[in-house]
Amino acid sequence: QKSVHRDSAGVLSMEGVRLDHLAEAVETPFYAYSARTIAGAYQDFRSALGLDVGVCYAVKANGNLSVIALLSELGCGMDIVSGGELQRVVAAGASRDGVVFSGVGKTRAEVEAALAAGIHQFNVESVAELELISAVAASHGVEAPVALRVNPDIDALSHDKISTGRKGDKFGISIDEIASLYPRASGMRGIRLVGLATHIGSQITDLEPYRKAYTRIAGLTRHLRDLGQSVTRLDLGGGIGIDYGSGFKLDLRDFASIIRATVGDLDAELTVEPGRRLVGEAGVLVTQVLYSKPHADFDIVVIDAAMNDLIRPAMYDAVHPVEMVSSTEGGSRKCRIVGPVCESSDAFGSFDHLPELSSGNLVAFLAAGAYGASMSSTYNARPLIPEVLISDDRFAVIRRRQPIEELLALERNPKWRSLSSR
Ligand code: LLP
Repeated sequence: QKSVHRDSAGVLSMEGVRLDHLAEAVETPFYAYSARTIAGAYQDFRSALGLDVGVCYAVKANGNLSVIALLSELGCGMDIVSGGELQRVVAAGASRDGVVFSGVGKTRAEVEAALAAGIHQFNVESVAELELISAVAASHGVEAPVALRVNPDIDALSHDKISTGRKGDKFGISIDEIASLYPRASGMRGIRLVGLATHIGSQITDLEPYRKAYTRIAGLTRHLRDLGQSVTRLDLGGGIGIDYGSGFKLDLRDFASIIRATVGDLDAELTVEPGRRLVGEAGVLVTQVLYSKPHADFDIVVIDAAMNDLIRPAMYDAVHPVEMVSSTEGGSRKCRIVGPVCESSDAFGSFDHLPELSSGNLVAFLAAGAYGASMSSTYNARPLIPEVLISDDRFAVIRRRQPIEELLALERNPKWRSLSSR
């Protein structure tokens, strides 16, 4: 599911749109997403997992309204982690009864909003949260559909900062506690206990952690049923890795086999929550070389995109594959690609497959559709950059470039007030 290819003129193109022409129309830096690749990634899930496994897109990966709308029109549910994401889902016109609400820190206001919206399920991550949801739901005379998120104490064998299922990670409720908590939770007012959820981490490239985690979930489910508890839904989380240039990624059919082998015979409603795998490979970050600073045996190449636009390299030492947009001819020269932000961590990596780069050259970072735009900030007073959706030979700007005035408008000169006069 590569979203870009070289056209007959050797120019990097997305579907039927040349990225150099797009750069003239939109101005760099910007994100571009292939609608066809996103739809294809969703269909891959559908065909690998079968119709009986629900797919809820983890909105945090790319919350653009048009991306949510595209997936929801295909029938995809949504996994959210905040009231803001709920509003995104609603604004995009996605159905609320396909929404699962995950996250360790849901506020009372968020719980109220989600109850009012009539979401499908709350994945609850602590006893204190359970008690809050119980109280809020009961006070509104409704029942909240709740799954308890299990921390299965499994190492996802991914980057430390995106592993979530080990004992001591902040996520979920320890698997040892669930057996006693579940019966208690099922008796709480305002709670309709429907099952269990888990999510062990992100950018997972090894199936064994999934097998281990789902085996534990299956054992726990049987145990709870033996206790007379009803467990009708299992949310198996997301985390399926994509190809960031190594050429390897998990085969969804193998993932599906593990699901069937571990929890397939439990007669439960199954859901997965992929984010990255649905949108990651569909996106590129198109950027332009500002300056090249020659060193003895390599160049430091300064581009117009920075860590505020794509923070993954700085935050997780991630390397996104990079390609010239136009010709790839002209030998190769070692370079370090960096952004203009005033931090040494604002760097995209060292590469030795590109020709010598100079001002005005366009380069594209690939596999940037997930956790790119959605994690961007305005650090160094750099406004948010555009997002463009491409479908066949057409494009649409689905987020405009943020005018700097919009940033400044949030702030004002101090109007002093005193708390003692309240
Ligand atoms: N479900 C839950 C409860 C999650 O916390 C996450 C991601 C997902 C599903 C989707 O995971 P995915 O399929 O996208 O791996 N910013 C990091 C990734 C953080 C993932 C957070 N949780 C990165 O850029 O690598």
